[in-house]
Amino acid sequence: MQYTTLGRTNLHVSVAGLGGGGHSRLGLRLGRSLDDALTVAQAAFDQGVNVFDTAQGYGTEPVLAKLLDTVPRDQIVISTKAGIGWMGPINCTPQEFAKTIDDRLTQLNTDYIDIMYIHGLHPDLVDDAMEMIVPVMQKARDAGKVRFIGVTEMFEHDFTHQMLQRALPYDCFDVVMLGFNILNQTARDTVLPMIQKQNVGTMCMFAIRQALSNEDRFKQTINQLIDEGRIDPALINATNPLDFLKLTSAEISGGTSGGGGYADIVDACYRFCRDEPGMDIVLTGTSNTAHLAANLQSINAPALPVEHRQRLIDIFKNVDHLSGD
Ligand SMILES: NC(=O)c1ccc[n+]([C@@H]2O[C@H](COP(=O)([O-])OP(=O)(O)OC[C@H]3O[C@@H](n4cnc5c(N)ncnc54)[C@H](OP(=O)(O)O)[C@@H]3O)[C@@H](O)[C@H]2O)c1
Repeated sequence: MQYTTLGRTNLHVSVAGLGGGGHSRLGLRLGRSLDDALTVAQAAFDQGVNVFDTAQGYGTEPVLAKLLDTVPRDQIVISTKAGIGWMGPINCTPQEFAKTIDDRLTQLNTDYIDIMYIHGLHPDLVDDAMEMIVPVMQKARDAGKVRFIGVTEMFEHDFTHQMLQRALPYDCFDVVMLGFNILNQTARDTVLPMIQKQNVGTMCMFAIRQALSNEDRFKQTINQLIDEGRIDPALINATNPLDFLKLTSAEISGGTSGGGGYADIVDACYRFCRDEPGMDIVLTGTSNTAHLAANLQSINAPALPVEHRQRLIDIFKNVDHLSGD
């Protein structure tokens, strides 16, 4: 496992973080037990993952509480989140949000949260959140309940990072969680420059989503993007879109791979995200320990060859209206 520094937090973190949300929620969403989910979390820890993301809404905080029965608290970085409503006004008072933070401590059975996020902040709520919620988070930080504060976006609606574009100028968040993947690379120009300037830590979500974890769904999406005029068909083989990433055996044996070919679409996706300047941690969520092992290997694999990466940038440069969900 490779490690890095999480921006201004100076936390020493694994480049891969285990996501407790997504479509699997460590398996809880599929009906698996808490112990099954714990097996996934423990396997991640055993393979060097030291970042674990969860949220009030995921139901996976108790899994991390159980992990803490065997793992020393200072060996892992826990991020959790609480929402404040999506449409309409903020749906809680500052006092209620303060209680929500205390409830996270109870659910996680810990004295402190490493990173407390506002979960999926709506772009229109940024100013109100700064006035009502961020001071509560800062107070919790001053009290030692929270070490660092952050915000996550609702990428499946906020495709061009409008929330972060409004929030980052306040320069109050230590860490942000943002969507980025092969299909939607808009973060590169819209927010990553400011994030890097402010030395804000980053967690990358949506590296693989439904349109990226399944070859057939990916092909359907490519064909749709060609029909919409978003992708130049001359740049891609619609029946085998990532074919160009596969290296010939001559290229591999000749050492011109610059990092080796890809195993499958999931491998290519994780490696692409891992290599993006400004992305500290790539999150991976799963119910499946075999998927976990493969994904950790991809996140730690060499970068895709430069010419392949550039081709992926060129192919998807006009896509800014979907998340891959
Ligand atoms: N707004 C927010 O704050 C927000 C939103 C979304 C996500 N997140 C966080 O970010 C984390 C990452 O989210 P994500 O959107 O990137 O999704 P994810 O949680 O990483 O989920 C990936 C999905 O792909 C499947 N998968 C994983 N590895 C696979 C493999 N090797 N082959 C085939 N399928 C595979 C998983 O199903 P299996 O169980 O079958 O492996 C899972 O359902 C989440 O877990 C959550 O912690 C936060």
